[in-house]
Amino acid sequence: MTEETNAIPASLPLRNDLIGETPYGAPQLDVPVCLNVNENPYEPNPDVCATIARRVGEIAHTLNRYPDREHIALRKAFSDYLAKESGARLAVDQLWGANGSNEIMLQLFQAFGGPGRTALGCDPTYSMYPEYARDTFTGWKLAHRNADFTLDVDAAIKAIHEIKPSMVILTSPNNPTGTPLPPADLERILDVCETADVAGAAAGVHPIVVVDEAYVEFRNPGTPSAVTLIDKHPNLAVSRTMSKAFAFAGARVGYLAASKDIIDCVRIVRMPYHLSAVTQAAALAALEHTDEQLSQVAHLREIREQTAAWLKRQTYKGQPLEVAASESNFLLFGGHFDKRDRIFEALLDRGILIRVVGPDGWLRVCMGTDDEMARFREALSEVLRIVEAE
Ligand SMILES: Cc1ncc(COP(=O)(O)O)c(C=O)c1O
Repeated sequence: MTEETNAIPASLPLRNDLIGETPYGAPQLDVPVCLNVNENPYEPNPDVCATIARRVGEIAHTLNRYPDREHIALRKAFSDYLAKESGARLAVDQLWGANGSNEIMLQLFQAFGGPGRTALGCDPTYSMYPEYARDTFTGWKLAHRNADFTLDVDAAIKAIHEIKPSMVILTSPNNPTGTPLPPADLERILDVCETADVAGAAAGVHPIVVVDEAYVEFRNPGTPSAVTLIDKHPNLAVSRTMSKAFAFAGARVGYLAASKDIIDCVRIVRMPYHLSAVTQAAALAALEHTDEQLSQVAHLREIREQTAAWLKRQTYKGQPLEVAASESNFLLFGGHFDKRDRIFEALLDRGILIRVVGPDGWLRVCMGTDDEMARFREALSEVLRIVEAE
């Protein structure tokens, strides 16, 4: 399937700031090896599929009614999952679900951004953040990361004081670099935000810190999740998703962990009944099978380490490839690709779809099955020789 963007007629009253914009999204192409959107490549097992079918079947006769708009059963299930996964037990009113963490983030921008407000991110980072900002009329500013993509905490703190954002967005592990945020660095930023001013808000208003943990289950064992800091820091909001490690991208389920007060702010902007009964039933079914859904995570971590080591042994134009240190299910690699689009295209010609993203000279590949990674390695070795000779 290819995607086309038709020119929008000038006669339509599209918002001025949207004229010339195109819909966001990585290419959805029908190719044998898809390593471009950081999914878990393993399908739910037959037991999980049976539970999903049963749970959805059980609520089918209620579909004439609106769903539980507070999705209480699902929030309880998130609480149990987080207690098991991160060791933090949060109350139902400290949790909130939505259609993917994309919707969670948009709701945060709707509640805490808006005209006159600014959100601060740390470049390079996830390319949807400026879109949430645009869609909610929120300013978007960036502090820069260190050369190895770790957070430059001093630069971020300086930017917080200068820009006075209402939201500080930290991504851990970061996309597209895979870089984790050490808890001590997060705590420094949380402490600063507890007293920092917010432009466009009354005195005594302070920024919230949003940690986007979309890939957190892939972190190295023993590293705490930011959810363990929620009870200590009422200005912390942690966005999570079932789309990545949890192997549930097609169901569109994300969730937010934060103080009850932050959750109550988000509840003001949510659409009524935003989470369908079918989505709630499917998510509850998957959360009954946490171990099965996460069963390949350790293997994907190993594949990541093996692939990183392999990439570092490859050369392009006489220099070894660089690989950003990653605690996620993807690797940013290259560093000195002068023709990254050409490398991307040549891989695509061989049926391998990766992503052109991040700073110039780099490409990102997501971890697939063993067979998919073997095909990636074989194709990349060939492509690097061809492209450097051109
Ligand atoms: C850092 C980050 N946050 C959030 C998302 C959104 O994921 P979803 O809406 O599927 O939960 C993504 C998806 O790629 C991501 O990379």
